[in-house]
Amino acid sequence: MAEEAPVSAAFRGVTKRFGALEVLRGIDLDVRRGEVLALLGPSGGGKSTLLRLVNGLEVRDAGSLRVLDTDVPLGGPAAAPTDPFWTALRRRIGFVFQAFHLYPHKTALENVTLAPVTVARLDAAAVRERGLALLERVGLAEKADAWPRQLSGGQQQRVAIARALAMEPEMLLFDEPTSALDPEMSAEVIDVMRALAAQHDRTLIVVTHEFGFAREAADRVAFLEHGRILEVGAARDVLERPQHERTRAFFERVL
Ligand SMILES: Nc1ncnc2c1ncn2[C@@H]1O[C@H](COP(=O)(O)OP(=O)(O)OP(=O)(O)O)[C@@H](O)[C@H]1O
Ligand SMILES: [Mg+2]
Repeated sequence: MAEEAPVSAAFRGVTKRFGALEVLRGIDLDVRRGEVLALLGPSGGGKSTLLRLVNGLEVRDAGSLRVLDTDVPLGGPAAAPTDPFWTALRRRIGFVFQAFHLYPHKTALENVTLAPVTVARLDAAAVRERGLALLERVGLAEKADAWPRQLSGGQQQRVAIARALAMEPEMLLFDEPTSALDPEMSAEVIDVMRALAAQHDRTLIVVTHEFGFAREAADRVAFLEHGRILEVGAARDVLERPQHERTRAFFERVL
């Protein structure tokens, strides 16, 4: 058998329910190392839940899950998001939420450097320098000392991306990072994400309704509806020649 390419996340028959509601119904998916995967699909289809399983914010009911070459046990202590199992794994994974979630009483720079300072116990000057470099990378060097409330939504989201990068994660998860933003601010954030995607030095899983980003920056697109992945493939194939009737109908509605 051919040796398998390294994967950042591997789902096999993964199911998840909330009470009577079956939200994920047997997910099989490999996210390869260094790839950019866009996760598309209608509201309520399970995209956020799938993403949250990858960094332990939700716990599956059945099936197997590997994250960064680590088997995620079903049940046991690792079922708790606060278990040391997840604290350790999450250091290798960055998460960017729709609602930014910056610390309001910390400056932009402090938001970026907080985790490296507390986790890695690096020298303060080195941390500051790295924090400034990260802010520069998202185009916000001049906002280092600004408070979140003094920043636009797009700027706050870019700080959140810099913060996620600060721990040098092997994988970055984005859950609709631009859907709370107006088009101009979305474009600033998308530009930063495109630059990250182009580097291909870490795995990106991006839940998004930005089809332009999916088409041009993603390697593959997965379409998730009603808890099932209806299709997954090269971004252009799925977006331009969807095989599944439901995928086609969804794209026709939104494009
Ligand atoms: N903590 C929860 N408790 C109960 N039901 C939940 C919970 N989280 C999500 N759900 C339900 O699970 C289903 C899938 O939700 P999920 O947030 O994963 O969808 P989504 O594809 O991300 O949707 P959207 O595009 O609107 O963000 C929805 O019906 C949602 O209401
Ligand atoms: Mg969601």
